[in-house]
Amino acid sequence: MNNVLLFCDPGIDDSLAIMYALLNPEINVVGIVSSYGNVPQQQATQNVAYLLKLAGRDDIPIIAGARSPLSGEIAVFYPEIHGEEGLGPIRSPETIQHEVVNFDEIFKIIEKHAGNLVIVDVGRSTSLAIAFLLGGEEYLHKVKAVYCMGGAFLVPGNVTPVAEANFHGDAIAANLVLNKLRNVHITPLNVTNYAIITPEIIQQITAQSFNAFTQLIKPIFDYYTAAYKKLDPSLTGSPLHDVFTIFALVNPEQVQYVNRQASVSIEFNDTKGESIADFRARSSEQVTANTDHIAIQFNYQTFVKDFINVMTTR
Ligand code: BDR
Ligand code: CA
Repeated sequence: MNNVLLFCDPGIDDSLAIMYALLNPEINVVGIVSSYGNVPQQQATQNVAYLLKLAGRDDIPIIAGARSPLSGEIAVFYPEIHGEEGLGPIRSPETIQHEVVNFDEIFKIIEKHAGNLVIVDVGRSTSLAIAFLLGGEEYLHKVKAVYCMGGAFLVPGNVTPVAEANFHGDAIAANLVLNKLRNVHITPLNVTNYAIITPEIIQQITAQSFNAFTQLIKPIFDYYTAAYKKLDPSLTGSPLHDVFTIFALVNPEQVQYVNRQASVSIEFNDTKGESIADFRARSSEQVTANTDHIAIQFNYQTFVKDFINVMTTR
């Protein structure tokens, strides 16, 4: 069982990742940090509260995360991909009551699960970087592993020719996370672009699924897929970047990594947010606590099978 503290910005693929995590018997979600990213932080928080309400999981704390990047830049949102309110055509009710706790809850959670906690960050890295800056190594080194969706290594980005949205959204924070946190597993566009779920797979899920999220999956997926199809008409579905990141945590044998120290360009020019690592062949690999694990390949069939299994869990 993996105790997971999830940092996210829902957002459609984030929402599907939350559903996947809550339904997955291998995962115990111990807290959700909601931050700006795909939508403003307040909207992300409302969306998390809605999903937890549907699941009947009032017990999971929502922690108020960052509202804008460390650099002081104005946050950029993505309604064209995720919808005005982050859930495509769905509006999460404003009336949902879910206590939102302060940032220092993160340290209480780390302390409580010291040595047995995984952090998954599928949004801009700002909140995780702030946790490091506030708590320091003392806290974050008690975390077993960090799984982080972001970057595009030697492949095109999705918000600039070289940068992926999470790393570009707060390059300073992403660079700090990759350099300072231990045992970081990065799931970049290199793999997540291929974690494609098709309308046929969703059809299969909705036909068999009788859980808290059944009504929500198809409308939000359809919205997201239509948005991706506008960007690339050759796509047969849409990439579930954030779901893949949690899949990678639960299915380590299905994902191949290269071990390299990675960094992110913090230059305020065309390279901002570019993810960089030295991929040249090595005669031997020296892996230290600071070496990052960069996902480069995975078993697609297993991903699809697992996604269907988990999303149809009652
Ligand atoms: C990442 O950016 C966000 O838009 C998605 O939710 C995902 O985390 C993909 O680049
Ligand atoms: Ca996200």
